Amino acid sequence: MIEITLRAGSLEATETDALVVLAPSGAQSADSFGAGAIDAILGGLIGRLLNAGDFTGKAEQVAVLYPPESAAFKRVVLVGTGNGDVPLAERVRRAAAVAGKCAQDVGAKHVAICGLPDPVEATTTAVAEGLILGLYTFDSMKSKAADQSKIEHAVIVCSGDVIAEAEAGLRVGMALARATSLARDLTNLPPNVCTPAYLAEIAVRIAGERGLQVEVLERGQMQAIQMGALLAVAQAAHNPPRFIVLQHNAHRSAELDTLVLVGKGVTFDTGGYSLKTRDGMIGMKGDMSGAAAVLGAMQAVSELQVEKHVVGIIPASENLVDAAAYRPQDVITASNGKTIEIISTDAEGRLLLADALVYAKRFAPDAVVDIATLTGSAAAALGGVYSAVFATDVELRRALEHAGETVFERVWPMPMAPEYRKQIDSDTADMRNSSTIPKAGASVATMFLAEFVDYPVWAHVDMAGTFVDSGASAYIPAKGMSGYGARLLTQFVIEWTTRKGV
Ligand code: BES
Ligand code: ZN
Ligand code: ZN
Repeated sequence: MIEITLRAGSLEATETDALVVLAPSGAQSADSFGAGAIDAILGGLIGRLLNAGDFTGKAEQVAVLYPPESAAFKRVVLVGTGNGDVPLAERVRRAAAVAGKCAQDVGAKHVAICGLPDPVEATTTAVAEGLILGLYTFDSMKSKAADQSKIEHAVIVCSGDVIAEAEAGLRVGMALARATSLARDLTNLPPNVCTPAYLAEIAVRIAGERGLQVEVLERGQMQAIQMGALLAVAQAAHNPPRFIVLQHNAHRSAELDTLVLVGKGVTFDTGGYSLKTRDGMIGMKGDMSGAAAVLGAMQAVSELQVEKHVVGIIPASENLVDAAAYRPQDVITASNGKTIEIISTDAEGRLLLADALVYAKRFAPDAVVDIATLTGSAAAALGGVYSAVFATDVELRRALEHAGETVFERVWPMPMAPEYRKQIDSDTADMRNSSTIPKAGASVATMFLAEFVDYPVWAHVDMAGTFVDSGASAYIPAKGMSGYGARLLTQFVIEWTTRKGV
């Protein structure tokens, strides 16, 4: 991965293959965005572009300019940050991604970035995210590496009086970008590689690197605590299930706020006996995107040493078909003793989450957030633009909305209501796992999950629309997985403050 460092100092002396200059929309002169000295070296080219109206600084506009050979920098990549409805940090993220790709395409190995708009801390974070995520590729399954030259090092150049802010911003940006890259890697991996045991290995590796506490339950241990819902899904699993629990600051749980993050880890969803169509199965290697988001976030919060007790819980299983598979009309018992009549074996995610949400209670959480590729219904409603969020607590919902805007992994509120619960009333058991009426599927699924939540502050994020490329932008690949959720959860954990005694 590209290495990013910071430097305070003069731009003219910056030795680099490509000097990226972030330019605001509508600027009249290079001076106005701190590039006057560079423009002097370029013989006034930037000024001429601006005057001619060839470069307006609109979002993602790029111009590559060449200084005389005597200059310290070989090229200038001028990139527009635009204006309008999109928040500044997001425009900077996209501009950094566009400039990074442009510089890499012309063979640059080293880039320098300047012209960070205020507030410097947030825009430095955004530059790091945009550069790293824009240059992300998934090639570990190719037998030969692509022969493209890659940017190896970027240096962010800023003035000495804001270097402390830039440093703080860079630290967060690197952690966020690494978290998303991890989530992308895991979700892009095929289901014969990324099995429940593989997810557990990754959790153990992160724990080792970052000093997290980790526990991995196997089938026998899940049986001992009667996780009948998860185990029903795992009955036909060829690769056995795992229940993964990671903790950051476990030893300080008494003194710190406790946040629990739960991620759906279905490493492949065939639908089971309620079999998906062949087209419907494509993409289902990504049905562990919630788990990937939680693993990414756990890595980031430990890297950033966030002053909270954070627990990551990942129930992981395949959803396959064989003679041992669970059936429609089976009645199973979850770990809180509630019974569930199976209507669809394809509504398996909520079964995994049920036992995980029950397990979360033992940590006496101040807030619990689960994230899952749970329903086609959420994807139909919101596409790849927003995830659906459901919450029992308005403050928690707002905190997720705020964090989502900040990192631009947005969530939109959807309703929970007793009327939706009626759709899963069962004649034989306490509830059914799905409705027979294809309406409000995301809300109905949430009412099911609520049966396993025994604490006041809980939110559920349905990312069935956002886990793939459909929200593609300059730093979200047009093909493959988005890595959505890792930055959302990390930012949420950073921002959240518990209202003690409420
Ligand atoms: N993993 C799917 C949901 C999904 C669908 C995620 C498409 C991403 C893209 C989930 O397990 C599922 O199959 N849900 C069913 C529930 C239904 C049977 C009540 C659905 O949404 O159709
Ligand atoms: Zn399913
Ligand atoms: Zn699923």
